[in-house]
Amino acid sequence: MAKSSQTRAKSSLSRPLRSRPAIAVVIMAAGKGTRLKSKHPKVLHDIGGKPILAHVIATAKKVVPADDIFVIVGHEAERVRKAVADTGVNFVLQADQRGTGHALMVAREALLSGARQKYDQVIVLSGDAPLITAETIQKVSDFHSAQKASMTLLSADLDNPYGYGRVIRKGKGAEVQAIVEEKSATPRQRKIREINSGFYAFAAPALYEHIDRLSTANPHGEYYLTDMAGVFHRARKKVVTIRTADAGEVLGSNTRAEMMMLDARMRLAKCRELLDQGVTIFYPHTCVIDSDVEVGADTVIEPFVQLLGKTKIGADCRIRSYSVIGNSLVGDRVTVRHGTIMEDSSVGADAVLGPYSHLRPGSEIGEGAHVGNFVETKKIKLGRGSKANHLSYLGDAEIGEGVNIGAGTITCNYDGVNKHKTTIEDGVFVGSDSTLVAPVKIGRGAYVAAASCITEDVPEDALALGRARQSVKEGWARAKREAQKKEKAKSS
Ligand code: UD1
Ligand code: CA
Repeated sequence: MAKSSQTRAKSSLSRPLRSRPAIAVVIMAAGKGTRLKSKHPKVLHDIGGKPILAHVIATAKKVVPADDIFVIVGHEAERVRKAVADTGVNFVLQADQRGTGHALMVAREALLSGARQKYDQVIVLSGDAPLITAETIQKVSDFHSAQKASMTLLSADLDNPYGYGRVIRKGKGAEVQAIVEEKSATPRQRKIREINSGFYAFAAPALYEHIDRLSTANPHGEYYLTDMAGVFHRARKKVVTIRTADAGEVLGSNTRAEMMMLDARMRLAKCRELLDQGVTIFYPHTCVIDSDVEVGADTVIEPFVQLLGKTKIGADCRIRSYSVIGNSLVGDRVTVRHGTIMEDSSVGADAVLGPYSHLRPGSEIGEGAHVGNFVETKKIKLGRGSKANHLSYLGDAEIGEGVNIGAGTITCNYDGVNKHKTTIEDGVFVGSDSTLVAPVKIGRGAYVAAASCITEDVPEDALALGRARQSVKEGWARAKREAQKKEKAKSS
């Protein structure tokens, strides 16, 4: 205890609060994304299982609190706002999208409005580049402060710089004199491989003061934020650049092809993170694991598995090939055999699912329970140690502990208008091929004979038979065969 408070005291001494700049983060997300040819706004397309913008916001929140984050919305503003409203960030409306520079002109009003703190530094992130890390943003911010620059841009060397703004340096140092967009670049400038990533830090007062000098005299007729480099340079203010260590971090998603490349990168990075945490993933490039998924150590994930949404998998599990698990909780030591599909459901420790089980929303499978081949469940509780191993439909049912559901058992939960509930108490044995017509209740420890159609409640410890009694006609088949033989002999 004493030691940790000492360390804390020391670290806050080495970095006194007063010297830290007050930082606002602006995320540009108002554009349409014309190059995607989509009816959905670019920043709401999913990468790694969640909207591109949600990734950028999550990263920004590692650098500053949500209250200091300003998301610029414009195209489909309401949809974008709704999709990420739960993050607690501020939204600024850029009603007409007249360029990235214009986005910052609109942001200025919000940054200066009301009882807001006075920001020293404005960090600008691109809402369409989701791989940026908090460490890199912090590095840009620190470099900017150390350089006492008016503008710092993050740059990267790309083998194929096509489409990006190029960085025109001023001599050999970090100073920059301009950024030139692809369309305005001379053939010689186009050969420059150092590109502008679209991430910047600005000295807030300098930005506020000089941004109105931007013009729309360019091939797109837009206010380019990139032109601030030239504006500051001409005003004899310092513009510097810092290169990323990993050029992959700054890639944008302007086209579907770029988007899919980012998705693949993000998923591989996710696999690497899980591998580092002690999860085995065979052929990781065949698995689709969303970025918010959690998996416990020593769990083994086989090829072609998909783990989606907010899924959490325990430790020591085995998830076999072709299983797709979405927004579900899986306990420790669970075996999920091939081809199992599970959505919005939960499974207790030591349970066994599949092959080919389909757990639809609201399935709660108890500890050590088994759900087997071609069993479909929906909105059920299956108690501890209970088994439904073959070919069943179990819907709207509450099933106790130690229950055996025979092969082919069906809960008839739907009368064409309403759904009804089936209750099966602890220790019940349901024989194969039974139909349980809900609402119906089978009491503790009762037996249901195979192939019964159960329409009325069964009391505890009873045997219920709901089928025609078998009758046997001795010698019937032999007599029939002999009659057929005689018939044949007569006709030939
Ligand atoms: C921009 C840079 C380019 C850089 C590249 C990096 C400019 C002029 N160019 O080009 O130098 O190499 O990013 O990825 O800035 N947006 C708004 N309001 C607008 C216009 C755009 O919020 O009026 C948003 C977009 O939604 C997007 C971001 O700003 O999230 C960047 O805009 P985009 O059109 O993708 O710029 P690029 O052409 O990629
Ligand atoms: Ca872009």
